[in-house]
Amino acid sequence: MGALLTVEGLAHAYAGALAVRDVSFTVGEGEVVALVGANGAGKSTSVKCVAGALRPARGSIRFAGTEIAGHPVHEVVERGITLVPEGRLVFPQMTIEDNLLVGGWAPRARGARSARLDEVFAIFPRLAERRGQFAGSLSGGEQQMLAIARGLMSGPRLIILDEPSLGLMPKLVRELFVLIASLRGRGVSILLVEQNVHQSLKIADRAYVLEKGSIALSGTGPELIGNDFVRAAFLGLDQPGSSASVPR
Ligand SMILES: Nc1ncnc2c1ncn2[C@@H]1O[C@H](COP(=O)(O)OP(=O)(O)OP(=O)(O)O)[C@@H](O)[C@H]1O
Ligand SMILES: [Mg+2]
Repeated sequence: MGALLTVEGLAHAYAGALAVRDVSFTVGEGEVVALVGANGAGKSTSVKCVAGALRPARGSIRFAGTEIAGHPVHEVVERGITLVPEGRLVFPQMTIEDNLLVGGWAPRARGARSARLDEVFAIFPRLAERRGQFAGSLSGGEQQMLAIARGLMSGPRLIILDEPSLGLMPKLVRELFVLIASLRGRGVSILLVEQNVHQSLKIADRAYVLEKGSIALSGTGPELIGNDFVRAAFLGLDQPGSSASVPR
């Protein structure tokens, strides 16, 4: 049986400049997979290609056995992939509940909206308490939770979270990672894009390190936490003495 998502040889250029050169990775059913890397490495570009927001120049994206590279966002959502983009982007002048209902508007999810709203409120009790308030009145951390909750309203098989911890206080970052880990048991596979490398590797089943538009390293979370290159480049830790696997 193949992986739920298989990306092979993905490339994308902005105005002729290659931002993603050769990206291949898989996400299995029920897995949490992290995609980590420095600013500008090509993480957002890669996941936007998967979600249909950008058209890849090359490469294959197979989801549940179907080739979806170049398909538009609404078709990709219908197949079960939802991207929660960088920067939250909730509708500030709409209530929390209405933000969530918009997230459940995709045809695949519409019939189950009220049941899913109850599920999402059970996962995020703070959003339930404030369901009638404008989303703009929430704190940054709460808006991030709302953005994830809105993504879940579409009933995805795979949810892609692009930098969910960006700009949050350390306490909220910890809460967020606990929450992401808890989604694993709910039948949702997760592709997590993060600059918070240590926390991501701790909750991920597997991870990929993206460097200058290509995958430089991959392994299980513990393997990468123990990797000399990852420790030096991303974790600010001394090398543990294991053999280094240094990318190009
Ligand atoms: N709309 C765009 N037009 C032109 N170049 C872009 C555009 N978006 C991204 N780039 C460039 O593509 C490269 C990869 O960017 P991308 O946003 O995918 O990186 P990232 O890994 O998500 O970085 P960050 O951690 O800062 O979010 C960078 O050099 C960036 O400047
Ligand atoms: Mg990005």
